[in-house]
Amino acid sequence: MIGIFDSGYGGLTILNHIRQRLPEYDYLYLGDNARAPYGTRSFDVIYEYTLEAVNYLQKRGCQLIILACNTASAKALRSIQQNDINPDEIRVLGVIRPTVEVVPTRTRTKHIGILATQGTVASESYVIELQKQDPELVITQQACPMWVPLIECGEHMHEGADYFVEKYLTELLARDPLIDTIILGCTHYPLLQEKIEAFLANQSISAQSVSVVAQGEIVAESLADYLERHQDIAERAMAGSRGSCTFLTTESANKFSDSASIFLDEEILAKHIEYSVISQT
Ligand code: DGL
Repeated sequence: MIGIFDSGYGGLTILNHIRQRLPEYDYLYLGDNARAPYGTRSFDVIYEYTLEAVNYLQKRGCQLIILACNTASAKALRSIQQNDINPDEIRVLGVIRPTVEVVPTRTRTKHIGILATQGTVASESYVIELQKQDPELVITQQACPMWVPLIECGEHMHEGADYFVEKYLTELLARDPLIDTIILGCTHYPLLQEKIEAFLANQSISAQSVSVVAQGEIVAESLADYLERHQDIAERAMAGSRGSCTFLTTESANKFSDSASIFLDEEILAKHIEYSVISQT
């Protein structure tokens, strides 16, 4: 079974693509909605919560876990991989590495914008990893601290969200008008993608058209490639699978089911799990 973890709803934007690409596996999704957002929390807290989730998903039978959360990938993944897990038993992968491997091929101006949480921006993970791919890339980061709360509250589809979409995009493009590629470096942000693209289509700050990169397809393709290259892990993760998907949330199961059903465009029945239970794992 493959575990997918996020602070809340954001990981659904990754799960959706992974399930389309690899429908034969069983999936266990864990959204820590009760403690979201993670993006404004300290390194220690994000690491602690992410490690609890990894241990819990392993206990529930996952042999492979995707941190479908940039903040957790930036702040906790490396420590967990190096210090906390036995790679013979479980593998934990993130979403930043697959993204930085693909994006440099998509920019013409070599000017890239990163929209992410404060935690991801402060970690500089995207800047460091992208410049390893191509030292000539010019990277400008913009933290968007209001976007995840808007999405977790279900306000992202309404007019109020337009103000904050405009605010962060205007700030980003004013700092570098040559940006032609913007990475949605938080898995929640594709839920605002329509508004983001509508704003970009109407603005006149940059001369060139700006393309927006969401991570779902990229991560799904990278996972398929990883499983192809690691047949032993693929076999273990596949054992007994029936193509099922179970959803767990630390917040209200009803609220999660309603919102997730809209995001995934299918009927979801989530189960509630107390975060104190996850913490005790
Ligand atoms: N969806 C997450 C990310 O990709 C975390 C958002 C949050 O909880 O602040 O960064």
